[in-house]
Parts: sequence; C-alpha cells; structure tokens
Amino acid sequence: MTTTAFIHHKGGTGKTTSCLQIAGILKNIGRTVLVIDTDPQANATLGLGVYSDSLQKHIYQYYIQCCSDNPEKVLLSDYIIKTVSGIDLVPSHLDLVGAEAILYKNPERYHILKKGVDIIKERYDHILIDTPPFLGQFLINGMIAADNSVMVFSSDIFAIAGYDHINHIINDINDILGIKINIGMALLNRWNSHYEKTETFWEKIQQLLGSTSEPKPDSLQEIRTQLEKRISVEIPEVVIISEGKEISHSLKQSIPLIILAPDDPAMPGFKKAASIIDSWKSGRK
Ligand SMILES: Nc1ncnc2c1ncn2[C@@H]1O[C@H](COP(=O)(O)OP(=O)(O)O)[C@@H](O)[C@H]1O
Ligand SMILES: [Mg+2]
Repeated sequence: MTTTAFIHHKGGTGKTTSCLQIAGILKNIGRTVLVIDTDPQANATLGLGVYSDSLQKHIYQYYIQCCSDNPEKVLLSDYIIKTVSGIDLVPSHLDLVGAEAILYKNPERYHILKKGVDIIKERYDHILIDTPPFLGQFLINGMIAADNSVMVFSSDIFAIAGYDHINHIINDINDILGIKINIGMALLNRWNSHYEKTETFWEKIQQLLGSTSEPKPDSLQEIRTQLEKRISVEIPEVVIISEGKEISHSLKQSIPLIILAPDDPAMPGFKKAASIIDSWKSGRK
C-alpha cells in the first residue's frame, strides 16, 4: 500500500481531476482505494457524488477533534464513507476553512493527518489525498501524511512560475521539521491547450526555470520534451496529460473516465500516472 498526495498551491491545475481519475483507474484494476479530501472547496467529495452539506462527519471534525483534549481517541476510520464508485472517501466541507486558526495553536499541527493515515493504511492498496490550492497547514499535512507527492502543473504559465516557490517551501519543511517530502512525479496537465501560444511560451518557461542555451523549440512537442528534461532533474517521473473531452461530464456524473469514456484523449496520461503510482506500492520512492 502507498499514500499519495496531489499538490500545487495554485487552483485549477488539475489536482482534484487527477486524484479522482487515477482513483478510478486504480479501482478499475481491482485495487482498494481511499480518497481523502482536504480541500475546503470539497470538489473531490462532490466529484465522488457526495454532497457535504448532508454529512454528519467530515475532515473538519477530524482535525478539530484531534485538537481537543482527547486526541488519542480520534480515529480517521470513523470519518470514512462508501461512494457509488466503490471508492472510499473521507469527505471535506467548507467548514474546514475555520480549522486553520485552531490548528495554529497545536504543536502537533503538521502531523495530524499522518497519525490518522498511519493507522488505516494497511487496509487499502492506495490512499490518495487531494489538497487545497494554498500553502497552508492542510497542504503541509497532506504532504507529510503521504509517502510521495504528485505535483500537478497546468500548461498555464502561472502554474509553472510556482515551481521554484514550492520547491523552496518543501526544502524548508525538510530542514525545519526534519521530514523528507518526496515529490515522486510531476503531471503536466492540459498540455495541448497552449498550442497557439508557443511563440512566447518557451521564452517565459526558460526565464522561470532558469534559462538554458537551448535554441527555441519550433513545436509544442519539443517544448514539452525540454520541459520534461528540466523538471526531471528534480522529479523522477514526468507524465503529460492531454486536454480531455469528457472530464467535466465525468465529474458531474461521478463516473470515472475509465468507465465513462475510456478512449478520452486524457486517458493515456492518467493511465501512465496510475501505473507509476501503483508501482509505489511498497511505500516511499
Ligand atoms: N486534462 C484536462 N482536460 C480537460 N479539463 C481538465 C483537465 N484537467 C482539469 N480539467 C478541468 O479544469 C478544471 C480545474 O481542475 P481541478 O482538478 O478542479 O483543479 P484543482 O483541483 O487543481 O483546483 C476543472 O473544471 C476540470 O474539469
Ligand atoms: Mg481541487
């Protein structure tokens, strides 16, 4: 079994989409899968067909209870629900926004999710953690609870601009908390949506990632190859996900692409990413 967090501190890069599609593929090949939604926006919860307002228990209460007088009695397993897809879920709720301030007073605040995950991880082949798009305690909790993190970049230039920033934060966590955060894979998501913009795109990428003497590539394919080469200096696996056609239908209907539209253009990338994550079964990379 292995635990994987989907991370990027910018919204809309495809964390939730990747988490759910990969969960669907892993489930489809017979793995047991738990998704933990740690984003107050609760998109993964909704994407699995669950309306958080109808719930008695969700991740907010887990965090709050862990900050109460008897944290040792709090079990993450009490917060797991079944979903129609057969994927288990620890759902999220907008209330989670209010937990940040309470967590700040707790010296154990960065390890709360890890403590819960460590007890239940034997029960699942895969635990996938969806994290929020801001650099706060829930993102840090997700990275610390995970054996490996997957950094999800959209082809949006602002997402790539955040690359060095998050690397610094991860190095700080490694230094200050003495915890090694492993980034096992980068997903370059929606990489055919910027075809028209290749003229200035490469110059911007070069500036953001440190300029190289490489001549300007003349196709998007070449830009991808160069970017893959640059990112793979720091991240062992780089996978490209194409723009999908049925992704929003899949999320709206709570049916994974592998069932709804197995020939969708985004599927080969998601399948490759899922098979890499499945090969991490024995734990940290
Ligand atoms: N490969 C893709 N192809 C098409 N649409 C995508 C793809 N990845 C993400 N999206 C769409 O982009 C939007 C943002 O994705 P989401 O996964 O919610 O981002 P994040 O969780 O990082 O904020 C969603 O509406 C989703 O349907
Ligand atoms: Mg999301």
